[in-house]
Amino acid sequence: MAEHRDYHERSILIHGRFRSEKWDFQDHILPPVSTSAAFRLRSVERGAQGFQQFANPDLDRNTTKPIYIYERLDEPCRGLLEETLAFAEKGEAAVAFASGMAAISAILGVHLKAGDHLVTSPKIYGCTYSLITHWLTRFGIRHSFCEFSTREQILDAVAPETRILYFETPSNPTLELVDLRMVVEVVREINAVRPAEEAVKVVVDNTFATPYCQRPLTMGVDFVVHSLTKNLGGFGADMGGVVVGPHASETDLLVFRKDFGGSISPHPSWHILVYGIPTLALRMERQQKTAKYVAEFLELQPGIDQVIYPGLDSYPQRSLAMTQMLDIDGNFAPGSMIYFEMAGTPEVAYRKAIRTMNYLAVNSLSITLAVSLGQIRTLVEHPASMTHSAIPLDVQVKAGISPGGIRLSIGLEDERDIARDLDRALLA
Ligand SMILES: Cc1ncc(COP(=O)(O)O)c(C=O)c1O
Repeated sequence: MAEHRDYHERSILIHGRFRSEKWDFQDHILPPVSTSAAFRLRSVERGAQGFQQFANPDLDRNTTKPIYIYERLDEPCRGLLEETLAFAEKGEAAVAFASGMAAISAILGVHLKAGDHLVTSPKIYGCTYSLITHWLTRFGIRHSFCEFSTREQILDAVAPETRILYFETPSNPTLELVDLRMVVEVVREINAVRPAEEAVKVVVDNTFATPYCQRPLTMGVDFVVHSLTKNLGGFGADMGGVVVGPHASETDLLVFRKDFGGSISPHPSWHILVYGIPTLALRMERQQKTAKYVAEFLELQPGIDQVIYPGLDSYPQRSLAMTQMLDIDGNFAPGSMIYFEMAGTPEVAYRKAIRTMNYLAVNSLSITLAVSLGQIRTLVEHPASMTHSAIPLDVQVKAGISPGGIRLSIGLEDERDIARDLDRALLA
């Protein structure tokens, strides 16, 4: 059988691993959707062996034939999805969850305990903000905010109790980048004088970029999280999440998932494995081209104050984008998300943004008013009152989320239709 190293990444994302202990591919092209909440154990001894094997740190999940017990613990389709996601992100191990938030809760949950401290950015998805500021605080886990733009900011924010730096790049919704190599270098300096058990880990939410546009683990980041609901799923039909990182953390993540219960079910796993990941490269290539066309169109519109898209010449962090956001063939890959702000005072910009989106909601075929992102359909939403409404207004303003800001997630429609629908809405 041919070896992985002989093939291009886009081929492997379609076929997955050639050999897997989780399924016999000799007679099947597609993997199974196994829908058994509990699995037949054949003997008590086999059941006991299954429990002993589950999340066992001494066993390599890639080469050990699993004994399936109960769907919440493990099942074949999820395992195959995890193998492919680990490959896509260039990590040793992936653990998949029922949603992106379940994955984020797990990576924070396994690394933080009462008394620990986390540094995060105010420029993050609203529910992640709420998880950190509301729930983790209740469990005695403190946090502070940092922009992660300079090494001094990071050194100032990190306390002796800090165990995690958590951020998004590009950030949701304002598309600001964090220089991953710079953060990793600073954290290496911090960790050099700490015992291993007090080491600071870097966790990056790579949902906006996808592994097609950026692979943070290859730059020294410890963990990547994703909402699989977005571009990795790609069709807007399923929810899911994943943590990808070193083999050493797999046991804790699996046990956390078992006990907190946020396991992804077989059907969404199968859809993401069979439809989402194999078409990721194709969709992202097309969506990016369209995003550039639409961003350039928006830049020319008089009623718009600023358009933020990493693929524009005017993008403030253009040189960082061009070295950090590279596709699987090494080409610049600015992604499929656009953020723009209407012109005028905050009140005027707000009214114009709401009117534009309400017009689109009723009159546009190519643009749908909806939260979420990374689908074949182009979606528009108002971060300040929707996805980021859990963030207090003053923090939103500091984070650059303006009342007149609009987030666009570009899909697969004809770019001329998207531009025309936007044009009509802006005129109206
Ligand atoms: C950047 C980012 N991370 C995480 C999430 C959470 O993912 P999910 O909705 O799958 O729980 C979202 C959801 O919008 C997101 O935009």
